[in-house]
Amino acid sequence: MILGLLKEYGTETRVALLPETVKAFSELKVEVLVEKGAGENAFAADADYVAVGAKIFSRADLFSKAEVFLQIQPPAGDDIQKIKNSQVWISAFNPLWDTKLVKTFLEKGITSFSLDLIPRTTRAQAMDILSSMATVAGYQAVLEAAAQLPTFFPMFMTAAGTIRPANVLILGAGVAGLQAIATSRKLGAQVQVFDVRSAVKEEVKSLGGKFVEVEGAIEDKAAGGYAVEQSEEFKKKQQQAINDHAAKANVVICTAQIPGKRAPLLLPKEAVDAMQPGSVIIDLAASTGGNCGLTKDNQTVVHKGVTIIGQSNYPAKKPVDASRMFGKNVLNFMKLIIGKEGEINLNFEDEIVKGTCITNKGEIYNERVKSIISNT
Ligand code: NAI
Repeated sequence: MILGLLKEYGTETRVALLPETVKAFSELKVEVLVEKGAGENAFAADADYVAVGAKIFSRADLFSKAEVFLQIQPPAGDDIQKIKNSQVWISAFNPLWDTKLVKTFLEKGITSFSLDLIPRTTRAQAMDILSSMATVAGYQAVLEAAAQLPTFFPMFMTAAGTIRPANVLILGAGVAGLQAIATSRKLGAQVQVFDVRSAVKEEVKSLGGKFVEVEGAIEDKAAGGYAVEQSEEFKKKQQQAINDHAAKANVVICTAQIPGKRAPLLLPKEAVDAMQPGSVIIDLAASTGGNCGLTKDNQTVVHKGVTIIGQSNYPAKKPVDASRMFGKNVLNFMKLIIGKEGEINLNFEDEIVKGTCITNKGEIYNERVKSIISNT
C-alpha cells in the first residue's frame, strides 16, 4: 500500500499521523508519502517524517502516486475531482450529516471510509477517534471557560474574604461531557449535569458531579448507547429544570448531540436572558446547530453580558496530543485493511471495516448512511 498523508486545510493544526505513528506503518510494509509541511502546525517537521522512512512530496504528486489518502478533514474544493475511483479516501467527514459529499463519492465510484462512524464497540475502542477528540474538546472547553470567566473556578479562603467556587452546568455527559466534569472538578468548580441517558448517572457521580434527574426520558437500546429524540412532554420538563440551573450557573458547557440529527436545543434565548452577566457558554455542538439558540458556529457572541463561544474544533488547540491520539486510532483501524505484505485488503466480513466504509464501487456500505441517503 502506498499511503498519502495530506496537509490539512485552513486553520486546522492537527495532522492525521505524527512521525511516531508513521514508523509503525513502515513496519507493516506500508510506504508512506507525506505532503510537504503536513505536520508543521503540530510541530512535526518534514525531516522528522523522513527520519522514520517517509518520503516528502508536493500535494499534486501525492494525488498521482498514493493509493490511499489520509486527511482528518473531508476533501474540499478541487481535491474531490482529483481522487480517482481506484483510490481510497480516509478521513472524518460526518456522512450522517454531510450527505452531499457521500453522493459525490458514490457517483465517482470512490472507496471512502469515515472514521467518525467506527462502531462504538469494545473491539473498536482503540480506533475510536470520536472518543479521542471528545476528550480533548471537553478538557479544552473548560480551560477556555475558566480563561474567559471574570471570576475564579475554585473556592478561595483569603484574608480578603471567601471567594465562592464557580457553578458549572454541563449539558450532555458523553465522552466530552465526562472530561469536562473531571476538568472542572480538578479546577475546583461545583458541577451539575444533565443527560437523557440514566446509564451515565453513576459515572457523573464518581467524577464528583451532581446528576440532575428529569423523569420520563426515552432511552432506546437499539440506538447503541446513543441518545434518541425525546417526547414533547419530557422536553418541557427538562427545559424548565435546565433554565433554573442555567440562571444560577457561571459556566455552561454544551455537549449534547444526536448522531445524524440537529443537536437538541437545550438553552434557548429565554434561558440565556435569565443568566448572570459575565457568565460563559461553550457550545461544543456548534457545528450541528448548537445546544444554545444563540450559538454561531466558530464565532463568539456576547448577549446581555453572557459570552457564547461556538467552537467545534477544540482538538485543533492541542494539535500535538490530538494528532498523537488520532494517529494511534487510525493505525489501529488501518491494521484491519492492511494485508500481510502491506497490500490493501478490504474484508467487508469484518463489521468494523463494513461499518466504517461509506462508499465502495458505487455502493453505500454503512447501513445508517444508506437509510439516510435513500430517504433524501
Ligand atoms: P454524543 O457526542 O453523541 O452526545 C453527548 C451526550 O449528549 C450523550 O451522553 C447524550 O446522551 C447526550 N444528549 C443527547 N441529547 C440530549 C438531551 N436532549 N439532553 C441531555 N443530554 C443529551 O455522545 P458520545 O460521547 O459520542 O457517546 C455516545 C455513546 O457512545 C455513549 O453511550 C458512550 O458510552 C458510548 N461510547 C462507546 C464507546 C465504545 O464502546 N467504543 C466509546 C465512546 C462512547
